[in-house]
Amino acid sequence: MERPSWAPEGIDLDRPSAARVYDYFLGGAHNFAVDRGLAEMIAGMTPNIGDTMRANRSFLRRAVRFMLAEGIDQFLDLGSGIPTVGNVHEVVRQANPEGRVVYVDVDPIAVSHSRAILDDDEHTVAIQADVREWDRILEAPETLRLLDLTRPVGVLLLGVLHFVPDADDPAGIVARIRDVIAPGSYVALVNATDADQPPEVIEAQKLSSRTGTPIFLRSREALAAQHAGLTPVEPGLVHLPLWRPDSPVDVDDHPERFGALGVVARKDS
Ligand SMILES: C[S@@+](CC[C@H](N)C(=O)[O-])C[C@H]1O[C@@H](n2cnc3c(N)ncnc32)[C@H](O)[C@@H]1O
Repeated sequence: MERPSWAPEGIDLDRPSAARVYDYFLGGAHNFAVDRGLAEMIAGMTPNIGDTMRANRSFLRRAVRFMLAEGIDQFLDLGSGIPTVGNVHEVVRQANPEGRVVYVDVDPIAVSHSRAILDDDEHTVAIQADVREWDRILEAPETLRLLDLTRPVGVLLLGVLHFVPDADDPAGIVARIRDVIAPGSYVALVNATDADQPPEVIEAQKLSSRTGTPIFLRSREALAAQHAGLTPVEPGLVHLPLWRPDSPVDVDDHPERFGALGVVARKDS
């Protein structure tokens, strides 16, 4: 298959990528037949999956707006994905034209496409790194230029730590972030969960092992342990539509059908 101009050289066009499968579910154009095939297979087993991804984007917007209202003016978005409508920097710009955003993703297409749309934006950058390489992210010239980590920052880990296996200690990643950020900072987390899920969701999860980045569904207890040492703001760790909905009608009759839990937690001291 021919490589489209937006895809950097060297990427494997025959293996699905989590970022491109997600892009497809959100209606984006940066995906290949192999990604669409896997997405359709997952959707066939779990018809709610598209709704879950949209619920995640909606959580992202609400969480960022909450942090902006709390005075946060700089954001580190880890596992930021292929840019789509309602990106973090767009939400930030609406409230604060000077707000800073550093996007980080391991996927080269997510990073190259982010850079393309951010070309003339002095306050936003995208860097390619693995969330497990926290020191490299902290020391990247782009991070040092845009973020002042002696001041509060909003850290987003939305739909990314479920790609990190237990062996790589996802809770340890959050703990390292917690140790570095200033008091008054916030961390937002969204993770796929097996809490309250029917068997077909657990089966569909196995399909994700066909991507370079399989998904690990985690229990409510494991996800609560991820933000140990941080103080969750109300309503705590909940199914996505239940987190500070814009309107009561946005809350589904079965919020658990979205298959993911979200939380925003504050570093107090
Ligand atoms: C489901 S998308 C979520 C995108 C965005 N955060 C959102 O919530 O809309 C997950 C993203 O995490 C990225 N990702 C997966 N594993 C990663 C890792 N170890 N380090 C950095 N990014 C990772 C994928 O490339 C993908 O773009």
